[in-house]
Amino acid sequence: MKRSYYSGCDFRRAASIEELRRVAMRRVPNFTFEYVEGGAEDEVSLRRNRDVFERIAWLPRTLAGVGAPELATELLGEPLQMPLVIAPTGFNGMLWPEGDRALALAAAAAGISFTLSTVSNYDVVKLGRELPGRIWFQLYPFKELRAAERLIERAAEAGCDKLVVTTDVPMLGAREWDQRNYRQPMKLNLRSVLDVLAHPGWLRRVMIPGGAPQFANLTEFLPPDGRSALQGVRFMGTQINTSLDWSDVARFRKLWAGKLILKGILCVEDAHRAVDAGADGIVLTNHGGRQLDSAVSGVEILPSVAAAVGNQLAILVDGGFRRGADVLKALALGADAVMIGRPTLYGLAAGGQAGVAHALGLLRGEMQRSMALLGCRNVPELGAHLIRS
Ligand SMILES: Cc1cc2nc3c(=O)[nH]c(=O)nc-3n(C[C@H](O)[C@H](O)[C@H](O)COP(=O)(O)O)c2cc1C
Repeated sequence: MKRSYYSGCDFRRAASIEELRRVAMRRVPNFTFEYVEGGAEDEVSLRRNRDVFERIAWLPRTLAGVGAPELATELLGEPLQMPLVIAPTGFNGMLWPEGDRALALAAAAAGISFTLSTVSNYDVVKLGRELPGRIWFQLYPFKELRAAERLIERAAEAGCDKLVVTTDVPMLGAREWDQRNYRQPMKLNLRSVLDVLAHPGWLRRVMIPGGAPQFANLTEFLPPDGRSALQGVRFMGTQINTSLDWSDVARFRKLWAGKLILKGILCVEDAHRAVDAGADGIVLTNHGGRQLDSAVSGVEILPSVAAAVGNQLAILVDGGFRRGADVLKALALGADAVMIGRPTLYGLAAGGQAGVAHALGLLRGEMQRSMALLGCRNVPELGAHLIRS
């Protein structure tokens, strides 16, 4: 049977993240949507991130007197109204003006945290002071030591308690959509320019007020007369740290007094090394399928990592979570919380802060319903006994 989906542009009518995705697709030009949507090379990792959930089947408990299930939990000393954190994503300002702030405000209103990327378009100090206790900072560990140290200093100045160090970009993944949509960095090809012109609402909202948004946390590394998005992209190109290794993690551990989370772990051996390096948490992730293609998904490796180190650090996982039940599956398999990337970006592209709030509301409602149907009253009751092995 062919499935029907909502086909309008009102994000409030989207009944699922998939429908919100379709609204987002209509509201932004294709080069922007493809930037959000795409994976590396043949997108095998990307597809795997979704497929894995279909292979996990529930064994629900019935007649459990569930009442209204409670989603609140605690992660690394932080209260979360639901077991989610918004993942770091770069260039959110291309989807909505001050997109990072819109994501952060919606997250805070929902009682969860937001991770600001190194390559975001909003200043970490400004955001951290506006939303104390709700902003995490993600660090791309730059080749230039002093630059990485400055970012860490600014995250501390912002009052952030969580530093997420992304470990899986010793080289940029092959994102072939870039080659299709641009003729050179930040210069769109003719087909993309014509598509942009077909999206006047996006042009008016995002581009006309100030052009392509700058990388607000990189400005101090750029010359005063060269702080455009293009200069930021060029600077990033010079900073990819191909020699990143565990000695860098030791260095970050010394520099950062707050909670240190390593994002990019995909095997038990590295999870043990993260414990030895003094990390407080790890994110099991294949970077949303954007780095190594044909990589295992975070959820696939979760049970063995949880068995090995689950009582020694916090385990987060991401990649392909599109339903509340997906989140519950990860918790049942041993995760402490889930990071979401694209679902809230779809909300952002479709309707700014209100769109993000809609995405979070959909996931919350689905989690609550699935908890009840599973026979669970709260997060601690989720466990491997609910999953057919
Ligand atoms: C558009 C986009 C930009 C991203 N930028 C970053 C980034 O700046 N830093 C980072 O650590 N991860 C980045 N990621 C990866 C996400 O943090 C996260 O691992 C991934 O999106 C999770 O998968 P999901 O989108 O299926 O939820 C990005 C992902 C997307 C989709």
